[in-house]
Amino acid sequence: MNDLEQIVAGAAADFAAALTPAQLEDAKARFTGKTGLVTELLKGMAKLSPEEKKTRGAAINETKQRIEALLGERRRALAEAELQAQLKAEALDVTLPGRGRSLGGLHPVSRTLERIEQIFGSMGFDVADGPEIETDWHSFTALNNPENHPARSMQDTFYVDMQDEAGRPLCLRPHTSPMQVRYARQHAARYAANLDGMPEIRVIAPGRTYRVDSDATHSPMFHQCEGLWIGENVSFKDLKAVFTDFFRTFFETDELELRFRPSFFPFTEPSAEVDIAFASGPLKGRWLEVAGSGQVHPNVVRNYGLDPEKYIGFAFGMGPDRLTMLRYGVNDLRLFFEGDLRFLSQFK
Ligand code: DAH
Repeated sequence: MNDLEQIVAGAAADFAAALTPAQLEDAKARFTGKTGLVTELLKGMAKLSPEEKKTRGAAINETKQRIEALLGERRRALAEAELQAQLKAEALDVTLPGRGRSLGGLHPVSRTLERIEQIFGSMGFDVADGPEIETDWHSFTALNNPENHPARSMQDTFYVDMQDEAGRPLCLRPHTSPMQVRYARQHAARYAANLDGMPEIRVIAPGRTYRVDSDATHSPMFHQCEGLWIGENVSFKDLKAVFTDFFRTFFETDELELRFRPSFFPFTEPSAEVDIAFASGPLKGRWLEVAGSGQVHPNVVRNYGLDPEKYIGFAFGMGPDRLTMLRYGVNDLRLFFEGDLRFLSQFK
């Protein structure tokens, strides 16, 4: 093997031994770099005769080309190896089983609210929504609550450190009853003029309410659903019919009993608590309180912007949380608001 063949063989061995692009560039410098073997050979030609220069020069050039070809090959091989290593490192195991996706569902109290809206809707009741931060005028004064009524105290009601444009104190509404006043005032003018033949005010207002209270059957945030039916000739008889229909439909039984127990609310006179009793099941025969109700007090009708000599009707307030507990047999109200999926996923 002549010296040139040896150089090519040496380059091939060195290039093969290079395992990274940097090592390969170092090896290349040893052959074709400024002080590399091939470069030195070219420099050494100065001493040769013109005849020798021709053949030797051609031979050295050919050697250089072969080395460069080897170099190119090795560069491609290293790049390819690097790519393969990267692909391997980033590989995804597509045969792993997926995590699956579970379907959510409506909260049990939301189901009850939808059910209440649907049943009262079928009886011709409108559904209204109102503010949760409410004036104390709408919450108490307009509803005939005297100034010194205990419900107005800080112990019972969350007050907000703000006032409305008219300078009235604000609170988190302690019941949905302010919606009687808001809705009736909004519709009173239209009603009095009987513009589009609207015969009566008939509305329910479900939503969140707040009180300073917390135990197994009381939560500082809870739900209520207010109801109001005002007309020229609406009586307790209608209230009884509506409630009987509603509760029997809600609990899907015609055997449910209702009783009206005399009570007191400042905004109704007379007032009654409504109790129901199931004819079968675990609660069979027990009277369960489900709503407050009564004939709207003339002072409140006046605050609606209507003449109490002409307009009369009833109002009621019930607790959708309580109805949900009875319907699904839940005995701790707090379960509804803790967000525990083990509880909630049972209602999917
Ligand atoms: N607002 C009352 C409460 O929170 C419930 C209530 C009772 C509402 C009688 C009414 C009613 O509209 O007529 O305890």
